[in-house]
Amino acid sequence: CGIVGYIGKQNTTKILLDGLKELEYRGYDSAGIAVLKDEKIDVFKALGKLVNLEEKVNATVSKNDYEIGIGHTRWATHGKPTELNAHPHLGEYSYVVHNGIIENYKELKDDLSSKGHKFVSQTDTEVIVHLFENFYNQLNDTTAAFKKTIESLEGAFSILLITKADPTKVFFFKHGSPLIVAKGKEENEVLFASSDAPLIGLSNDVVYLEDGVGGIASSNSIEFFSDDYSWSTLPSSKQFAQKDGFRFFMEKEIYEQSTVVSDCMLGRIADKSISFDEIDSSIIEGINEIKICACGTSYHAGLTASYLFERLSKVKCNVEIASEFRYKEPLLTTDTLFVVISQSGETADTLEALKMAKDAGLKTLVVCNVDNSSMTRTADATILTRAGIEKGVASTKAFSTQTVVLWMLALYFAKAKNVISSEKMQEELHALREVPKSLVVNDKIHEKTRRLSKRYLHGHGFFFIGRDVFFPLALEGALKLKEISYLHAEGYPAGEMKHGPIALADPELFTIALMPQNLLYDKIKSNVEELSARDSTICAISPLDFELADDFIKTAKTDHYMLEFFEMLVALQLLSMEISIRLGNDVDMPRNLAKSVTVE
Ligand code: G6P
Repeated sequence: CGIVGYIGKQNTTKILLDGLKELEYRGYDSAGIAVLKDEKIDVFKALGKLVNLEEKVNATVSKNDYEIGIGHTRWATHGKPTELNAHPHLGEYSYVVHNGIIENYKELKDDLSSKGHKFVSQTDTEVIVHLFENFYNQLNDTTAAFKKTIESLEGAFSILLITKADPTKVFFFKHGSPLIVAKGKEENEVLFASSDAPLIGLSNDVVYLEDGVGGIASSNSIEFFSDDYSWSTLPSSKQFAQKDGFRFFMEKEIYEQSTVVSDCMLGRIADKSISFDEIDSSIIEGINEIKICACGTSYHAGLTASYLFERLSKVKCNVEIASEFRYKEPLLTTDTLFVVISQSGETADTLEALKMAKDAGLKTLVVCNVDNSSMTRTADATILTRAGIEKGVASTKAFSTQTVVLWMLALYFAKAKNVISSEKMQEELHALREVPKSLVVNDKIHEKTRRLSKRYLHGHGFFFIGRDVFFPLALEGALKLKEISYLHAEGYPAGEMKHGPIALADPELFTIALMPQNLLYDKIKSNVEELSARDSTICAISPLDFELADDFIKTAKTDHYMLEFFEMLVALQLLSMEISIRLGNDVDMPRNLAKSVTVE
């Protein structure tokens, strides 16, 4: 979810709506704003994407009559995406927007209901505003009531609250999800947002709130409840992402991969080695194991890297999904390097996993696309992927740059540990330099995926299969298809099909087989033959002709399996996008998803 807030004399509704537009990637199930002047509060809410809210506000508000406001764009957690469940939430005389999950909301709600508070939504958030009013009714002091509210809440909560009881103030608190407080460029102006994008251009001075820090803002003061904060400077201009003639951001981002991967490698590939300005080789000293933690597509990059770290750097490596890692009571030892991977740097589960590792005394490293994000501010070291803003919810260029960074890192460690011959290093560096070429979209392949998209609309499901690093690639291909086409797809290790899933094989089961020439070709070929013998429809992606394939996407002959990996990646991304387009879906904002998930 995304949060914005404003105190000032500019057009309040416009500033809030513009801010929410920048945050729409955090969820677009519903959106709302509450605006206040003197004791008059107006609230506007709308389901679905932000334009719906914008239309509603513009149809009603003709002039700027407000000096304070809060806004929210929602990714539903508790309660369906309905207008009633959209934020801001109202008590008798106060409104709140919240990002996170209140874990003890049930107890609080029961207690408050028994005291006569009336709840109208199914959300956990609504308890915050009733709790506040409950304390205010007892204490007649808004600050004390807000502090007591915070003390009573458990879980994750970043909050903005406004109230008619104190109509010139915004009460704020951060715990879990990110929240930033900013001084506006105009006099007597304060802004809030859950990431810096909405603030750029409007503010120079911001506080990235730490967990447990809150306060009260009014037009002429920002008062913090503790000293645990510091001011930083915001960059002055924002990069705009534009579609540049492509049908969707996802398409543009697929086509951009070759360029951004070149940016990502710039200055990092030397004649005989890899160099990273951001880290030094002591990071691998005394390390016997690498543990990777991530979510979604970033997890697939991590899984790919685990093969490369063991193969090239000769370090034990294991990978975990962050939400699993957090609660399994993991055994952590300080000879482990903890690597998290995240496009946004804000994913709640990954961030918490990172904090756990840090607290346990491990060295931590984040591979991230967003500088100044919560993860880059938490980890000991950061390597930026330099992919540029990624707008499509289905991640593409973030994945390719992450994978390249991790491959480079594997070589960096290999050199630091002295476990790689200079010939092998040369081969790898040569291959790395060729990656941008492998990522250039091949028109023939794009056209082929367009044609295949017609054929693959029906059936009872897809299996994407591969071996070694092509197994995580298969997982990624299946995830892309699920995310934007809503078709059932599974990624599977090719050799494992015979232990169960092959029972599903029939002509209505589509198998997308990743058959690289340079890695285990004969092995995957046998696995695909087994499926073909059971009548599964086979779409082979390979540089080598394969007579049993019903459909074929021909990739280039190269001399390194990772180059095949990247070319196949592009083919898989295009295939899912073309199927999604043919189904008439919103490719960039698929249903039920958000680009950045800041709740656990
Ligand atoms: C969300 C996005 C995915 C992304 C995942 C992890 O679920 O929809 O595309 O892979 O979060 O995000 P991160 O920013 O941590 O890479």
